[in-house]
Amino acid sequence: MVYHLTHDMLARQNGEDSARARFVLALKRQVAGPLRSGNGLAYRTEGVPAFAAAQGAAPANRAEALEAFSMSRFWRYWSAINRSSQELMWTAVAEPIYRDQVRLEAEAQRRMVAPTRKGGLHLDPDFEPDPAYTGVGIHLQPHSYVPEDPQGRDVLAGAYYEMGGRLYSMGQGIGARESKAGSVLDFLAEDRPGWMPKRVLDMGCSAGGASVVYAEEFPEAEVHAIDLGSSMLRYAFARAECLGHPVHFHQMDATRTSFPDGRFDLVVSHNLLHEISSDGRRAVARESRRLLAPGGIVVHQDIDLLFAHKTPWQQAERAWDRYHNHELFWLDYAECDFGKELAEAGFIPERVRTAKVRRSAGPGKWQIFVADD
Ligand SMILES: C[S@@+](CC[C@H](N)C(=O)[O-])C[C@H]1O[C@@H](n2cnc3c(N)ncnc32)[C@H](O)[C@@H]1O
Repeated sequence: MVYHLTHDMLARQNGEDSARARFVLALKRQVAGPLRSGNGLAYRTEGVPAFAAAQGAAPANRAEALEAFSMSRFWRYWSAINRSSQELMWTAVAEPIYRDQVRLEAEAQRRMVAPTRKGGLHLDPDFEPDPAYTGVGIHLQPHSYVPEDPQGRDVLAGAYYEMGGRLYSMGQGIGARESKAGSVLDFLAEDRPGWMPKRVLDMGCSAGGASVVYAEEFPEAEVHAIDLGSSMLRYAFARAECLGHPVHFHQMDATRTSFPDGRFDLVVSHNLLHEISSDGRRAVARESRRLLAPGGIVVHQDIDLLFAHKTPWQQAERAWDRYHNHELFWLDYAECDFGKELAEAGFIPERVRTAKVRRSAGPGKWQIFVADD
């Protein structure tokens, strides 16, 4: 499964759109690579001396390191360019999405009623999404994950998530494949060679990028995926249908699903943990335990962000997304011990593992939290 695959739910880009996207990508690569590598030096040579002159001592914790950073001109430039690159990214993908919006909605409607459809879409008209996901979007995504949807046709959240996400992740050097699910599958292939789950649940699926990878890898399995917003799920369903992989999408909260106990052999999430409150994260751990079938396995994958072994200045640098990219729960995740929370949720502590795994495409690692029976 290649990451830059094409399908009918992608907004069509003209030459100008592609040029804009290439510019944003080049800018993001500079910001995340060569420019970012100057932050450490700027902290030591500008931030720390300025902080020490003002406070009489060097910064000793993350809050003080953040203050020291704010006294560095280099950091302020980097921060401003980083923020601009994120805003430019969304503007760049907005153009083709709005131009193609009517076609995208029609394509989704057509897929929803097609007699040949393989998966399912189960929306809940009474579902009340957590207000944290409405209003200003997480990582500044326009219209948020849960946009207003008076006509009941909207697919904008998914369109933005997929098109923005492609640019975003390649800007971070993640590469050309759905590396999150790919890394979990690589882990499972080593941990449980030849194992085939019968039912899979993908929590917080967004546009279903990972969900379809499981449907493709385990063609005999029933794959279910859940998220909060109908706009996201309509898109995810239509996208999976375009790709020809059967996935059953449900509008459900991962902290309290309506699936029966022991329903799934494989429960996964991808980049959900850093976008959910601490109470929500602990509830996801309990729900994973409740939903797991005997002999099954839970794998929650997320970014390599945990603060436990980072110095105050490294923590302050990584905290940027909390303050400038509307990542509301970034620090809750960075400071959590999700392995411990899985054990508190009822998994046997000896059966809980945490590890960093290689991204199946591109440089860098993902964090995974694993628990089994
Ligand atoms: C960063 S995105 C996940 C990306 C996706 N799993 C992927 O592989 O591309 C986080 C998603 O989690 C969803 N989410 C947040 N809290 C949730 C909850 N309590 N239940 C279900 N989904 C949730 C958000 O709506 C959002 O779509």
